[in-house]
Amino acid sequence: MNNFVFHTPTKILFGKGQVESLGKEVAPIAKKVLLAYGSGSVKKIGLYDKTVSILKENGIEFVELSGIEPNPKLESVVEGVKLCRENKLQAIVAIGGGSVIDCSKAISAAIGYDGNPWDLLLDGSLITSAIPIFTVLTLSATGTEMNGNAVISNMQTNEKKALKSPLVKPVCSVLDPEYTCTVSPWQIASGTADIISHIFEVYFSLVEGAKVTDGISETLLKVCIEYGEKAYNNPDDYEARANLMWASSLAINGLTAAGKGGEPWSCHAMEHQLSAYYDITHGAGLATVTPSWFRFILSDKTVGKFVSYGVNVWGIDPSLDPFEIANKAIEKTEEFFFDVLKLPRTLKDYGIDETHLADMAEKAAMEGLDKAIIPLTAEDVLKIYKDCLE
Ligand code: NZQ
Ligand code: ZN
Repeated sequence: MNNFVFHTPTKILFGKGQVESLGKEVAPIAKKVLLAYGSGSVKKIGLYDKTVSILKENGIEFVELSGIEPNPKLESVVEGVKLCRENKLQAIVAIGGGSVIDCSKAISAAIGYDGNPWDLLLDGSLITSAIPIFTVLTLSATGTEMNGNAVISNMQTNEKKALKSPLVKPVCSVLDPEYTCTVSPWQIASGTADIISHIFEVYFSLVEGAKVTDGISETLLKVCIEYGEKAYNNPDDYEARANLMWASSLAINGLTAAGKGGEPWSCHAMEHQLSAYYDITHGAGLATVTPSWFRFILSDKTVGKFVSYGVNVWGIDPSLDPFEIANKAIEKTEEFFFDVLKLPRTLKDYGIDETHLADMAEKAAMEGLDKAIIPLTAEDVLKIYKDCLE
């Protein structure tokens, strides 16, 4: 088990009606905020009206940034920075899914930086300050509500990159599962695959002896499998929504990496190229590349991890041959992603062909994949992409 630092300063207000306390959290810190949201789902679920009245009741002025798209773009960050500077805003209240929150984090870090905000995505050491962020989460997936990451796309250069800084960890996040009841089956499926992938990216690390962390990861995986299916089939299942929501936060706040390391993440590096080139949904792209990555990394070295996964998560008979257990575990994962959650199985299903695969593989490998838990070259990534084609 490796040394680690675990620091999650975000205050979580979890459960029905917790948004009522948002004003009490923001008021002592800021009197003028940016209210950031996406394309209207927060209005349909009543969260926009609720937040506006809470801000007003607490004497907090606000300026709005709306229309933040999925896979948030650099342009929205630039617009948000302008609004914050012009209006001397002191904090950001982000209401929505990962895209809205990530965009808000990038804005908060870019306010104190004079150059192009994209520089901060290329070199995190340039981030020296950030204004406080408060979030009300409406989609369980990315875990951004409790971590220091923000993923931004630059469509001009076909790049999607992650900004990482402890300075952008939200001060406080409201997690009310009821706000996720309107999330579409497609987004539930993608979100569940995203949570699962965050766990996989670290679980298959070859670091031995991190039993606490592995046990937590296996429990979270079982939760995602059980409640992902329930939420997918029954939007009103509060217990399913609540468990998925908490799993999303814990899967990527450092808990499942404690003692195991794991960065940089392979499937995420490969998927970020897919969404940078084709603007596809992040979690769905992860589901497509994961089984091919599994087959690529399965070896004498890694088979033990696949056995633990197969036996402890899927209940596969431990007396079977280790490679048989591993292959069954991979098949179970595929069945869950593609039959239960009905996510696209192949790149062809998205209309993606070989055109950009070699470029994408080069770019993915440059995300440090030579240092991934199982190192990958650009050639390896290309093989994995090709294996996903059909
Ligand atoms: O734009 P609105 O109207 O809000 O609609 C959104 C959007 O169309 C909708 N939605 C959100 N909450 C809803 C809802 N629809 C109905 N009811 C609700 N309650 O869902 C659509 C997708 O939203 P989005 O925020 O894009 O989804 P998600 O939370 O999956 O975020 C994806 C982004 O996060 C990045 C991804 O790469 C992608 O850019 N990631 C961020 C990470 C992080 N910060 O740690 C880690 C992840 O690995 C990931 O890379
Ligand atoms: Zn992810």
